[in-house]
Amino acid sequence: MNLGLHNYTALVTGSGQGIGQTIALRLAQERVKVAVNDINAERASETVAKINDAGGAAIEAVFDITDYRAVQQGLHKIESEYGGVDILVNNAAFLLGHHDFLETSPDDWDREIKVCFYGALNCCHVVAKGMVERKTGNIVSIASDAGRIGQAREVAYAASKSAVIGMTKSLAQELGRYNINVNAISPAGTDTPLRQSVEQKELERLGEEKYRERERKILRLYPLRRIGKPEDIANMVVFLASDAACNVTGQVISVNGGYAMPG
Ligand SMILES: NC(=O)c1ccc[n+]([C@@H]2O[C@H](COP(=O)([O-])OP(=O)(O)OC[C@H]3O[C@@H](n4cnc5c(N)ncnc54)[C@H](O)[C@@H]3O)[C@@H](O)[C@H]2O)c1
Repeated sequence: MNLGLHNYTALVTGSGQGIGQTIALRLAQERVKVAVNDINAERASETVAKINDAGGAAIEAVFDITDYRAVQQGLHKIESEYGGVDILVNNAAFLLGHHDFLETSPDDWDREIKVCFYGALNCCHVVAKGMVERKTGNIVSIASDAGRIGQAREVAYAASKSAVIGMTKSLAQELGRYNINVNAISPAGTDTPLRQSVEQKELERLGEEKYRERERKILRLYPLRRIGKPEDIANMVVFLASDAACNVTGQVISVNGGYAMPG
């Protein structure tokens, strides 16, 4: 199926590793020119090298999405090399780990909310201006089931993901008239460095036996009995960014093995 993405430009935030990196690689396979954003320059250059090695086109876009001016400067650089951004993927996030709410501090909430929510707001605000002028664009944000059904011991992170969902629906209402689609994808557990580091801490906290028992219990919460793979999310991004999904906007699409099934 030709998804018609050839020659589009995408900005994928936090694409130096994990789900973002796989999204960047998958878009590049569709002949999309990819601006690989990450706060970590080494990771960004690794993704760019992978895309180039596979015959795709990519440039590094190293900036901190929590810094509005840095996002503006970053976009300026991308536009001068690739032209306007057609597809924005808000993927970067920061999760402190699993902590009882009463053990967390305002500084902890700040770190999570700034990346997960303000980062997405900054990128939408900066990138959507050009999309409105060109009367075309596609914004996909990676939310989380934590933001749809709640998640104990991830309070500020879950709240910031709910905020991303509110942002998605509101922007879809505002930008639809400019032919801009705005959607979110809601993953549950997905095997990435982020999840692996959280799981490692849980293993250390609980010990081998209790951890394995917890692992079995968690898997039973997934009807498909499978933890997600980054490719699952990347495939949905490609679909939502394509013409095949031109009448889809303001939606939160679960790609989660059935973990949550909100109505
Ligand atoms: N992995 C999961 O189980 C899971 C579940 C639900 C939702 N998600 C969501 O999927 C997305 C990707 O998750 P992941 O597991 O691949 O994460 P990850 O931590 O493996 O990768 C996130 C990337 O974002 C970058 N980043 C962090 N702060 C940044 C900033 N200020 N500016 C630019 N880049 C920054 C990091 O350097 C990192 O490379 C996130 O939005 C996450 O909330 C993940």
